[in-house]
Amino acid sequence: MKIIAKTLKGLEEVLSKEIHNLGVKDFTIAKRAVIYEGDLKLLYNSNLHLRSALRILVGIDDFTAENEDELYEKAKSIDWKKYLGLNQTFAIDTNVNSDIFTHSKYVAYKVKDAIADFYMEKSGRRPNVNTFEPDVKINVRIFKNNVEISLDSSGESLHRRGYKVEVLEAPLSEVLAAGILLHTDFETKIGFLDPMCGSGTLVTEALMINTGMAPNLLREKFGFMTWLNFERRMWNEIKEKAIEQIKEPSIDFNAYDISRKAIFSTKKNLSLLRYGDRVNVIKKDLFKLKDCHKIDFIIMNPPYDIRLKEEEIISFYQNIGDKLKQDCAPCDAWVFSGNIDALKRLGLRPSKKIKMMNGKIEAELRRFEVEPRIKN
Ligand SMILES: C[S@@+](CC[C@H](N)C(=O)[O-])C[C@H]1O[C@@H](n2cnc3c(N)ncnc32)[C@H](O)[C@@H]1O
Repeated sequence: MKIIAKTLKGLEEVLSKEIHNLGVKDFTIAKRAVIYEGDLKLLYNSNLHLRSALRILVGIDDFTAENEDELYEKAKSIDWKKYLGLNQTFAIDTNVNSDIFTHSKYVAYKVKDAIADFYMEKSGRRPNVNTFEPDVKINVRIFKNNVEISLDSSGESLHRRGYKVEVLEAPLSEVLAAGILLHTDFETKIGFLDPMCGSGTLVTEALMINTGMAPNLLREKFGFMTWLNFERRMWNEIKEKAIEQIKEPSIDFNAYDISRKAIFSTKKNLSLLRYGDRVNVIKKDLFKLKDCHKIDFIIMNPPYDIRLKEEEIISFYQNIGDKLKQDCAPCDAWVFSGNIDALKRLGLRPSKKIKMMNGKIEAELRRFEVEPRIKN
């Protein structure tokens, strides 16, 4: 089957490496997606193990359509019995970028009609629509006149790992946090610190990567579980194997934040993870940080709050840069921010810049190899 792993802008390469690590040799990198062939086992493994994937689709048909009638006829000619039982429910998700099809709701409506009429003609009955919790979620993607119909094997987006019980303002998406970390080589280090941890997404994802814990092990529901071909025994075996693979962390993990609420939230989120209690979560102001000698890797996502005044942001980022130079060198520091002008104010020369998106905001991940200053 054709598997389409969807991701965020800037994470395509990282995702393709993860897919390669699952044993896939041939894959195609597309815009915000990686496409490969596989069986049910690989589909389940992809949902469980891919840290930088947002959802895993299974392509069932693609064709061109010049108008709505052609879309309807071609969608109706798919053998839906293979994917959807009469007593099951379904929903249609659309992603439309086309001059011909300008209303995504109408596209969903046409495909829904095609499925309903397919069944009515064959058996006089049809499966019901359930947009809230469908058994089978169908994805229709149209770009110009190209139509791709696929089944969503994940259901809810894979950023919902199942560990985040406490959320603060402006948390990173788990998929984005994992993708950021996979761009770095933090696993070659001995001491990890996120000094502005918020609800702890970066440290939690880092701990899971380092202990080999599958990112979606705590998640209870996946779309494929309500498919006609769900192989429960295979899925249980895959999960058991993933549990056996978890190993002790090889790095000292530290997460600080100035806010008491953030500390509470990070601890709570980590508490659901094996070895979560090994992370030092401490209330601390970055600007009062003194002893960094056991820390050789720093990653942070400082606030870039648009509510703050421009001058305040600039001096805040300048102070971060000064702190890194004065008290944290030598270290490998990575800063992710949606305020690119502010990143320039750190006063450090980046050795790497990676463009990404944080939701709808253009963001950048920058690496700084901070060296101690030579004193005269
Ligand atoms: C954008 S949020 C980080 C979100 C986090 N990456 C997550 O996924 O939840 C920025 C965090 O920086 C913290 N912060 C702001 N000033 C700080 C300081 N001087 N020292 C330590 N933390 C600070 C805030 O309390 C906030 O939790």
